[in-house]
Amino acid sequence: MKRIFSGAQPTGGFHLGNYLGALRNWVELQHEYESFFCVVNLHAITIPQDPQELAKKTREVARLYLAAGIDPQVSTIFIQSDVPEHAELAWVLNCMTRISELDRMTQFKEKGRSQRENTGVGLFDYPVLMASDILLYQTDLVPVGEDQKQHLELTRDLAMRFNRDYGETFRIPEPFIPKIGARIMSLSDPAKKMAKSDENPNGSIALLDDADTIRRKLKRAVTDSGTDIRFDETRPALMNLLTIYRLLTEQTPPEIEEHFAGKGYGQLKGELADVVVEFLQPFQERVRGISDEELDSILEMGRERARNEACKTMDEVKTRLGLSGSGAPRN
Ligand code: TYM
Repeated sequence: MKRIFSGAQPTGGFHLGNYLGALRNWVELQHEYESFFCVVNLHAITIPQDPQELAKKTREVARLYLAAGIDPQVSTIFIQSDVPEHAELAWVLNCMTRISELDRMTQFKEKGRSQRENTGVGLFDYPVLMASDILLYQTDLVPVGEDQKQHLELTRDLAMRFNRDYGETFRIPEPFIPKIGARIMSLSDPAKKMAKSDENPNGSIALLDDADTIRRKLKRAVTDSGTDIRFDETRPALMNLLTIYRLLTEQTPPEIEEHFAGKGYGQLKGELADVVVEFLQPFQERVRGISDEELDSILEMGRERARNEACKTMDEVKTRLGLSGSGAPRN
């Protein structure tokens, strides 16, 4: 069976973009692939975090995976820091990554380069840790939003470089980027993606937002000029609202256009709020229904399964590199 790996950071509010661009697809794909879904808390500390808050958010994200429909009997759900091989392989890959490759990463340019003097090395190195996450599990497919595409290209390059220099070791992963929903935009600025790090809380809808907050945020969402409700590429704010509507209702664009014929932005925002609330309320109930004990046992099971696979790859990597403890090959 082919494999999937994906993950999300336990920082800020997990939002509709994360759900529609990534998590939703994980739920669908988990039945066709052997799946590993990770809460990437080591990535989170590339920027300063409050320790208590980080620990809380880490468990919260695991709950969101479960509430969205990731089945722990079918998929492996685990916490990145529970599997030390992620950091270990990242070190090995660091030694094969060129500074120039990381310097080209647009996410680093956006987040760190502006304040180069004060930026941690971890933020610069972020994509190498991500490559290590993926390659440790001999992953075939990585379902992500569009913003991760460049990181996936680096992952593939590193895997091919290692295989060329030390012999076939890693499977070369492919990205899975959905045709619709791969880039949900901010509600307050349709030129920017919806992001956990957005300073303006009105730009994104968190999966744990209450109904009033959701209605208020959608009411305030910016719109473009023009009045009719159509899937119109030249009106990005409207396209974004319609894309969210489309994905949550599973209706086709002609059906949606017909439904909103003769209606205006106010009506669309109101109905979209109903759709989002209707989707998120049962979701939030499921989150609350997961006990600490249940979560502990799921994460413990996930840790074991993940470590088992990670150790196999790491053993091979060490043998290839001549790093086996005794100096002699293990096999
Ligand atoms: P993160 O935590 O920022 O986001 C989790 C997932 O959500 C997607 N996403 C979006 N999709 C559509 N519209 C948006 N506005 C939007 N914002 C975020 C992201 O593309 C991602 O799929 N580096 C990763 C985490 C990671 C990872 C990995 C992913 C670490 N190791 C290995 C895959 C494989 C990140 O920061 O995601």
